[in-house]
Amino acid sequence: MKKPFEDTEAPDTPFDVSLRPPAFSEFAGQDKVRERLELLVAAARGRGDVLEHVLLSGPPGLGKTTLAYIIAQSMGVNIKSTSGPVIEKAGDLAGLLTTLERGDLLFIDEIHRLQATIEEYLYPAMEDYKLDIIIDQGPNARSVRLNLPKFTLVGATTRSGMISAPLRSRFGMDCRLDYYSAEHLADIVARSGGLIDVEIDAGGALESARRARGTPRIANTLLRWVRDFAQVRADGRINREVADAALAMRDIDADGFDEMDKRVIEALIHKFAGGPVGLSSLSVAVGEEAGTLEEVHEPYLIMQGYLKRTPQGRVAMPKAYGKLGLKVPAGKGSGQTELFD
Ligand SMILES: Nc1ncnc2c1ncn2[C@@H]1O[C@H](COP(=O)(O)OP(=O)(O)OP(=O)(O)O)[C@@H](O)[C@H]1O
Ligand SMILES: [Mg+2]
Repeated sequence: MKKPFEDTEAPDTPFDVSLRPPAFSEFAGQDKVRERLELLVAAARGRGDVLEHVLLSGPPGLGKTTLAYIIAQSMGVNIKSTSGPVIEKAGDLAGLLTTLERGDLLFIDEIHRLQATIEEYLYPAMEDYKLDIIIDQGPNARSVRLNLPKFTLVGATTRSGMISAPLRSRFGMDCRLDYYSAEHLADIVARSGGLIDVEIDAGGALESARRARGTPRIANTLLRWVRDFAQVRADGRINREVADAALAMRDIDADGFDEMDKRVIEALIHKFAGGPVGLSSLSVAVGEEAGTLEEVHEPYLIMQGYLKRTPQGRVAMPKAYGKLGLKVPAGKGSGQTELFD
């Protein structure tokens, strides 16, 4: 069974970990978020104070965990890492919080998956650095108040909408990460290429970056594949042609679409005549949980202009028809209604 103290970075391979930028200066993109965090850190350091609680949200693989580690590093504090579902009992939380020293950073990944009861314990801990826990059971049960050192909580979530209002309001800073531009991703690919010691030119980096769905983790994964391809099928060096051939061999779409992206577009057009269709129907049609669709898959499709959210439901945009090689039916995809969010 997982222990709350365990480092929860298991999903990242060692390849990934070594590519994690260790400082703000090496963290590409997300300029606004990075600048705000750098300022927060500089201010706290200048006052000799403890950093405010920070919430990082956004789709998977955009750098939330990376930023948490960079924050700890630049504050010069220890980081303890755990994740929402791993904290099962109030005692687990108490165990974590009581090992912190002043200024330490507690990183809770998937914080939207914290149980409601645990969340209640977290409120006074975040606000007043106090924890009331019940010890013993039955007639001996009593509440004990623990004073905690002033600490920083950094929460990460892919499902920002699932964070309760009381929890959200206790964070001093709420940072939303967005998909990266191909140019920023190309910088990341070039940097990673240097770290894994592969020769990659600007064209090769951009070609891999363009198909990475705006996501650094995917960009690094593609780079690893392209490196393997170049080693076996070429002279080890990556240029545009090599990257293109490597990605074609993996059936990676020129727009970097993954399986679910394709399914959403196809369902929208073939099953629901281009919409508008409600999120729950779309979710059943593609076999993915509504919340995940809404927070993980749709943002990319919306940003790229394939899909639109309207008060009546999801609507396929002209680009989506083009993607499937179809002509836009008359009266469809003209953007009749306004975005409501
Ligand atoms: N801005 C960046 N510059 C360079 N590399 C980055 C950047 N953001 C992320 N990466 C790379 O992408 C990988 C994935 O990032 P990270 O693990 O921080 O994502 P995450 O948002 O925590 O994802 P998840 O929601 O799945 O936990 C990192 O290991 C790192 O190598
Ligand atoms: Mg993470």
